Amino acid sequence: MSRERLILAVESSCDESAVALVREGGEVLSERVASQSDLHAATGGVIPEVAAREHHRWVPKLIGEVMVEAATLGVANEIDAVAVTTGPGLVGSLLVGAGVASAWAWGRGLPVVPTNHLEGHFRAAWLRSAGASAASAPTLPAIGLIVSGGHTLLVRVDADGRTERLGGTIDDAAGEAFDKIARLLGLPYPGGAALSALAAGAARGGDLPGGLRRLPVAQTDGEYDLSFSGVKTAAARMALAAIGEPAASPGRAAALAATLRDHPVPAAAAAAIAAAAQDAIIAALVSRVDRALAATPGASLVVGGGVAANVPLREALGALAARHGRTLNVPPVRWCTDNAAMIGAAAHAALREGRAQLQDPARGVSVSASWQFGTEAPA
Ligand code: KG4
Ligand code: ZN
Repeated sequence: MSRERLILAVESSCDESAVALVREGGEVLSERVASQSDLHAATGGVIPEVAAREHHRWVPKLIGEVMVEAATLGVANEIDAVAVTTGPGLVGSLLVGAGVASAWAWGRGLPVVPTNHLEGHFRAAWLRSAGASAASAPTLPAIGLIVSGGHTLLVRVDADGRTERLGGTIDDAAGEAFDKIARLLGLPYPGGAALSALAAGAARGGDLPGGLRRLPVAQTDGEYDLSFSGVKTAAARMALAAIGEPAASPGRAAALAATLRDHPVPAAAAAAIAAAAQDAIIAALVSRVDRALAATPGASLVVGGGVAANVPLREALGALAARHGRTLNVPPVRWCTDNAAMIGAAAHAALREGRAQLQDPARGVSVSASWQFGTEAPA
């Protein structure tokens, strides 16, 4: 092929439907994202059946919109392959994306490339806007930190694209911890960004509700593993202390939520709890990345996932990378949260590095709710 490969990418693993057109090398020619988060805010979380039905409504519509733009750009007939997220994620949502994408590919005589969602978050750092220079693209080997609402994962990606999992959360994902603590403080789902905004207004240096100075950073057995459930429990204890129930134990989530709904945490205490929780989550992440960089001389640092939108986390990781003399690569926020351009970038990388093949859509595309980044696609 004389020109660079062009991929239409489809993402539907959780609650964002997304379609993008990505050129080999990471140039994004067109992209659309339809988020269901307003719909799921009403129920305080994603309901899988509702998410799948929404993808069924949105994915074909977004493909149509991207193809109109492709026609305008004169590239509608240049598409070489269709990449689609086939895991990990919600199985119903994955099935809708895989089904729609492979049917569309079959109708045009195009091959499909089953693509890993977490590799997408990692490869998002290679994306660039149409016409932008590729000069600042990250380099391999790299330590990859993927922090989202569903995943918290630390990997080492070698120069040939081979990936080793170093560690990850043993309970809640980092974004899930942000979201659960945000909920305790009365913020709507998903609460990560709102919790961070609340934390920015906190008065620093005083005692926290319940008399603590800072929240504990949980220890884990695995050198690179993380645990966030302790931060969530400590935040719940502080919230109860702040409303005058210091003796109560957090207990069942439903009872705790009802108590805090009836007696909301006062504003100043809520800000202090938000700041302490954010500090603890960031300290845990930074300590694991610190170890990984120390163990991998010459590796750059690549960060992706929705929580990478968190400004204090970006600042802390930037300072850490500088201390190790490495470069930090974090994509702009629109490519940190779920999107399809990152799936296109991951598919290009997997094809180039010989880790993925172009497949005939008529053979069917398998999905897997638990496909691990760095392992073979589900057969
Ligand atoms: O990657 P993403 O869009 O979806 C998943 O694959 O999970 O990540 C969403 C997560 C949510 O938990 C959300 O609260 C969190 O990213 N998030 C943030 C911020 N912006 C989004 N967490 C902390 N600070 C932020 N600024
Ligand atoms: Zn994601």
